[in-house]
Amino acid sequence: MVLEGLRRLEYRGYDSAGVAVLTDQGIEARKKSGKLANLIGVIEEEPLSASLTGIGHTRWATHGGPTDQNAHPHLADDGALAVIHNGIIENFAEIKQELLAKGHTFLSETDTEVAAVLLGDIYRAEGGQDLTKSLQIASRKLEGAFTLLAVHRDHPGVVVASRRNSPLVVGLGENENFLGSDVSGFIDFTRRAVELGQDQIVTITPDAHEITDFFGNPAEGKEFTVDWDAAAAEKGGYDSFMAKEIHDQPAAVADTLLGRADAEGRLTLDELRIDPQELKGISKIIVLACGTSAYAGSVAKYAIESWCRIPVEVELSHEFRYREPIVDEKTLIVSISQSGETMDTLMAVRYAKEQGAKTLSICNTNGSTIPRESDAVLYTHAGPEIAVASTKAFLAQITATYILGLYLAHLRGNLFTGQIKDILADLGKIPAKIQDILDREDEIKDLAVSMAENQSVLFLGRHVGYPVAMEGALKLKEIAYIHAEGFAAGELKHGPIALIDDGQPVFVVVPSPRGRDSLHSKVVSNIQEVRARGAKTLVIAEQGDEAVKQYAEFVFYVPETPTLLMPLLATVPLQIFACELATAKGFDVDQPRNLAKSVTVE
Ligand code: AGP
Repeated sequence: MVLEGLRRLEYRGYDSAGVAVLTDQGIEARKKSGKLANLIGVIEEEPLSASLTGIGHTRWATHGGPTDQNAHPHLADDGALAVIHNGIIENFAEIKQELLAKGHTFLSETDTEVAAVLLGDIYRAEGGQDLTKSLQIASRKLEGAFTLLAVHRDHPGVVVASRRNSPLVVGLGENENFLGSDVSGFIDFTRRAVELGQDQIVTITPDAHEITDFFGNPAEGKEFTVDWDAAAAEKGGYDSFMAKEIHDQPAAVADTLLGRADAEGRLTLDELRIDPQELKGISKIIVLACGTSAYAGSVAKYAIESWCRIPVEVELSHEFRYREPIVDEKTLIVSISQSGETMDTLMAVRYAKEQGAKTLSICNTNGSTIPRESDAVLYTHAGPEIAVASTKAFLAQITATYILGLYLAHLRGNLFTGQIKDILADLGKIPAKIQDILDREDEIKDLAVSMAENQSVLFLGRHVGYPVAMEGALKLKEIAYIHAEGFAAGELKHGPIALIDDGQPVFVVVPSPRGRDSLHSKVVSNIQEVRARGAKTLVIAEQGDEAVKQYAEFVFYVPETPTLLMPLLATVPLQIFACELATAKGFDVDQPRNLAKSVTVE
């Protein structure tokens, strides 16, 4: 059961793995660097004794390289205690010094082993009786981010856990209980879950779970039922989770819209727990996000500024709080995070809250930390996104920001209900338009296979096409390991055009030729600039745009849609391109090297 749970969680990080079980003889542990398959091999060679209590961990290395020795679990108390950990313990060095001074020794260079030895030390100092109380004391001494799980030889049938700034949920079964970083870990065994709050300890036995704070005061978790089944998290017949999730996108957009707007264009954001009067009074929005989610924020900037006429700043979370940003109670922080556990974004949201801002989380993971710590949440309903490279969550995030923008525009009177109704009607047509693109994916796949040997691809876009170009480049970087770069098309002549030499592939996201303020002619000029220098131009254009054909080696047409909604369509061929090219190169597109699905360290 533990290994099955780890298999479902492997996408969270996978450079080593380990398990520990409680048997009559005490703790038995196996751990191995590399993917989970390596650990399974070790256990096949040296089977574990039968046991009904166990813990398991897949690691994404922070302190100490991905070696067998650094893999979790870490043992302490003369092998009587096993601990696993997610996060970073920021004061581990000073605690390690204290423990060394008391005569303790260490086998690894990890912060986790320090936590294990500390727990064992406290357990003994407290008389070797109460594992829960010892973990409470230990947790109070630790700083940083941690989810800790521990089992001890003296306490058969018991697992204790502690969490601060790191994910942990409880699974409630029949005469059995579970803990997991997210519900995927136990979805095969139960759908009843309890989300835990900050600084909480939970003790589980086969028939009970008891929650306290770090001082032993009883606390309550919030019970919820997991509404998607394990099958949803399987590949559904596609070669990879990424391919499946690209094809999930019509549903991801439709489900994110579902139930939030009525035919008359009235929006109901029931989970948006911010007083509408306060929302009316905000003077600016700051979007906090990383990676792909930050590009969703960049798209949102164009739409929300156009509809609501308030400034929208898009900030990389890890940069935000170190630049003394101007934040006050009239600032609305909108964090965008698929996992809801990105430490950079969590810490930036915390910082903004301290400055008095209202915080809204756009998130895809129910019960995760960022929405729990925000004043309000607008969940995307993309379903579990397993592939490390974000696709359906990206489109769902953009959709959610449009919903938020329209909601604010209505609240503040910037748009009439009729205008909102028209935009929502256009949004309602997007899923079918995405499907139209997916039905023609072979055009893109053939191009990708033909370019499998390319070592560099550039992406150009303008206006809302610029974040699309950035996202197209990021997809290629993270799964095909190819140098790819996105540029604002107008920026090319200010330097990057020096990169263009004969045969250099350049994707260009071309805006619609319709409308008086179209940027079409300017982007066509940019295409001519790069072609004149030998570039191989690969164009994403709107159906009906014949003019662009003469300047392109390859054109992929996306259905007509209003300019501000175009990213929901133009992104899809670039996702397919990256996925297919990486697959053609034989790479594991779901678990690319060096990456993890949820970056829960700063
Ligand atoms: C996207 O393909 C990457 N996996 C990465 O940039 C990701 O978007 C980023 O780490 C943010 O993750 P989050 O949305 O879970 O916060």
